[in-house]
Amino acid sequence: MDSLTALTIEKLYGSGDREPAVAPVRVDLNQAQVLALAAAAGQKPPADLRAETAMDFAVSVARGLSHAPRRLDCRFLYDARGSEIFERICEQPEYYLTRTEGAILAAAAGDIARRTGPVTLVELGSGSGIKTQIVLEAYSARHGPVRYTPVDISKSILELAEQEITAKMPHVKVEALHGTYEDAFPLLASYSPCLLLFLGSTVGNLDSSEADRFWEAIAAGLMPGDFCLLGVDINEDPDALHAAYNDGAGYSAAFTRNLFERMNRELGASLNTPSIEHVAAYNPEWRRVEIFARFTSTQSIDISQLGRSFRVGKGEQILTEVSRKFRLNHMVPYLATFGLAAQQIYSDEEKRFAVLLLRRV
Ligand code: TRP
Repeated sequence: MDSLTALTIEKLYGSGDREPAVAPVRVDLNQAQVLALAAAAGQKPPADLRAETAMDFAVSVARGLSHAPRRLDCRFLYDARGSEIFERICEQPEYYLTRTEGAILAAAAGDIARRTGPVTLVELGSGSGIKTQIVLEAYSARHGPVRYTPVDISKSILELAEQEITAKMPHVKVEALHGTYEDAFPLLASYSPCLLLFLGSTVGNLDSSEADRFWEAIAAGLMPGDFCLLGVDINEDPDALHAAYNDGAGYSAAFTRNLFERMNRELGASLNTPSIEHVAAYNPEWRRVEIFARFTSTQSIDISQLGRSFRVGKGEQILTEVSRKFRLNHMVPYLATFGLAAQQIYSDEEKRFAVLLLRRV
């Protein structure tokens, strides 16, 4: 257990600084609300909360390119190909997040399972669910059969996770939900008592106003006494951050470029993607890594579905993702304002990453 440190928060400040908003917001819960009613009536919700269409992507790209400064919704990075590339990013030596969080979870899972008691595990943005297997093992060792509901925007990666976990862990009952986080919010109450997992510092991909809405929805969805396990990147080292988002093998660059390859595949955009560069830089003022696609030649992004075309100039940078980094003495009181009380904080010795066990009061 020596890689595990339980931290105490000595000093509590107000919530962190506000930074400029960066991504379009989507609120569309009608479909999910209907499913929530079905779930409340005791019916098993169907796996598909929402089939994402090329038109959704077209509309999002057109909105993002119409915005000044230009930005794209990071949700669309995770198609089948993008999710696969992201799994590779997680394996890179520079990308310490996944490895560090995995080690923290390996040390802490037993303690977490003991603290929550038997609960259903629901995971937002599960990806391949490899890290989660550690937690699932601890729950079944302590409490017997476990119910696990991964939620992900990528259907292919969900199917993979479901197959792998079902094959490896017959005592885990997997009920995957394909959809966005927002689609899953109205269903949360139907899983209570539950532990909601939100790992990988994915919360850092929301800007501060999106995060406010996210936590409001989580707080509204969870029942008093339910738990949330949150993974956050707390690394302060600019060099380590730069390396993590610019891996030597080039997977980060491939990930950014894939968003434009997806435009070619789904929107018929005919972009020359090799000439689009990945730029990731740590912005210490806003404590976030900012990831851009830089066009090294002038090109047009044609969106045939909408009959629109956007000219992108040589040297222009389009924001594709932000990844905020956190301070626990801001994060803990911030979460408390949503009725999410930190029960325990687990971290690595170098304090690069933290896993927070929260309880809805
Ligand atoms: N969720 C990941 C993170 O914030 C996203 C990410 C990692 C990413 N590496 C990237 C996005 C490279 C674009 C390019 O850490």
